[in-house]
Amino acid sequence: MSTSEDSAIIITDVSPNDREELVPILEDSFEGWYLRHSKRTLSEIGLVRQAKVNDERAGLVMLKELGNKLGYVYYIAVAKRFRGKGIGGKLLDSSLTYFFDRGMQEVYASVEEDNEESNRLFHSRDFRKTTRSELAKKYGTINSFVLIRKMLIVPGEIILFRKLSPNLDLVNETHS
Ligand SMILES: CC(C)(COP(=O)(O)OP(=O)(O)OC[C@H]1O[C@@H](n2cnc3c(N)ncnc32)[C@H](O)[C@@H]1OP(=O)(O)O)[C@@H](O)C(=O)NCCC(=O)NCCS
Repeated sequence: MSTSEDSAIIITDVSPNDREELVPILEDSFEGWYLRHSKRTLSEIGLVRQAKVNDERAGLVMLKELGNKLGYVYYIAVAKRFRGKGIGGKLLDSSLTYFFDRGMQEVYASVEEDNEESNRLFHSRDFRKTTRSELAKKYGTINSFVLIRKMLIVPGEIILFRKLSPNLDLVNETHS
């Protein structure tokens, strides 16, 4: 379990039995295919973290490892009324620290190209756009194909990534 130093935003891991409580955040954040898929992923994925504000569930992040020391931010969402208050940023910082502690060297995410809030969030944490052909150059054609399959990139989405350098410098993070 990890806890943010900011007393107003508490970040904790959520066990599979308690994840149903987070569904309203997904319903507030996604529609159609994304909503159905995010709900399924919520119950199946290895690690889910939530952000609570005054004991209310405000946001969540779902994380997985892709292999080859690569982490993936599968879904990140903040309930509408809690947006723009730094909660998404705190969840992402917590995710980066988690992956760093697990020895990951890069972290990936995929976002819809026209999703401004999401692009802003990831760019604020130094994520940059990459492409399928850059991935193929880096990891080879077959490996990059496997990676993209694991990320489940759908049309209209772009791939973002950032390196985790040995001196990852994230503020407001403590671990217990
Ligand atoms: C994307 C999302 C998670 C962002 O959550 P949030 O809690 O509103 O994000 P934050 O308030 O932490 O803002 C993140 C960063 O964006 C930037 N930002 C936020 N509001 C901004 C504004 N009005 N103008 C400019 N920059 C802004 C800031 O740089 C901020 O970083 P900071 O923590 O250093 O200040 C939220 O909009 C959401 O749930 N969207 C729907 C679901 C979704 O699309 N998820 C992403 C794909 S899985």
